[in-house]
Amino acid sequence: MSGRIHDVAAAGFSAGSGAYDRGRPSYPQEAVDLIVAELGIDRDTTVVDLAAGTGKFTALLVPTGADVVVVEPVAEMRETLARAIPEAEIHDGTAEHMPFPDGFAGAVTVAQAFHWFDADEALSEIARVLEPGGGLAFLWNRRDESVPWVGEMSRILRWRERYPHIANYDRVDWAAIVARSGLFTDLRHTAFRYDQDLDREGLADRVRSISYVAAMDESQREALVQQVLRLVADQPERFPLPYMTLVFWCSKRS
Ligand SMILES: C[S@@+](CC[C@H](N)C(=O)[O-])C[C@H]1O[C@@H](n2cnc3c(N)ncnc32)[C@H](O)[C@@H]1O
Repeated sequence: MSGRIHDVAAAGFSAGSGAYDRGRPSYPQEAVDLIVAELGIDRDTTVVDLAAGTGKFTALLVPTGADVVVVEPVAEMRETLARAIPEAEIHDGTAEHMPFPDGFAGAVTVAQAFHWFDADEALSEIARVLEPGGGLAFLWNRRDESVPWVGEMSRILRWRERYPHIANYDRVDWAAIVARSGLFTDLRHTAFRYDQDLDREGLADRVRSISYVAAMDESQREALVQQVLRLVADQPERFPLPYMTLVFWCSKRS
């Protein structure tokens, strides 16, 4: 692999690629449609889905007919992705070092991952890999903590307190970070409501898929899972885990 990734990402995403694939949500179709329209993705586009993980977002790009190329540094994630999406061309690499020539891609997408990157290095590498005018979109599913049991779940997981520089991506001024690179047009953004339909085992996998939880020893991890499951004791067999999907996009200056 070229470049380094955060230790928690390396440990957690390699230990938990199965739980990740079962437990993490997909993304709302409105978000995909917006990105496809704004970045002008069509059958003639090469799209790099960066930090593709097990391919949750990659799968939504395939129906566009674009050439879908993925970059993912964790081998276990790449293996799960290769089984799920045989059409995708898969590469080892990082946001800071991608194995492509200058101007290789018409668009780059980053789902639920930009917070792991060295933002300045990644933006300069993405700009290198994009053709002039090529589009960049990044998005996150952020749990809607205004729903009481979801807020309580976040308090139990303590992700924001444990890894404030990574976990508080929804409080980062991404427009300022993109602007200071000088490489892209002004960042635009929007948000969509999105519900992940889960049962209790799905919620358990959702918790196990969190990088630092996946990296814990089993007894600690399962104790945390049980604590979260107690929050949904009164829910029906299937219930929604509500999110806001935050979408950001811009294009490389020509
Ligand atoms: C939360 S997962 C998101 C995966 C996928 N995009 C999705 O939407 O489900 C974050 C991914 O970022 C990857 N990652 C972490 N640091 C990275 C870096 N510096 N460059 C590229 N990928 C990185 C991890 O290996 C992991 O697969």
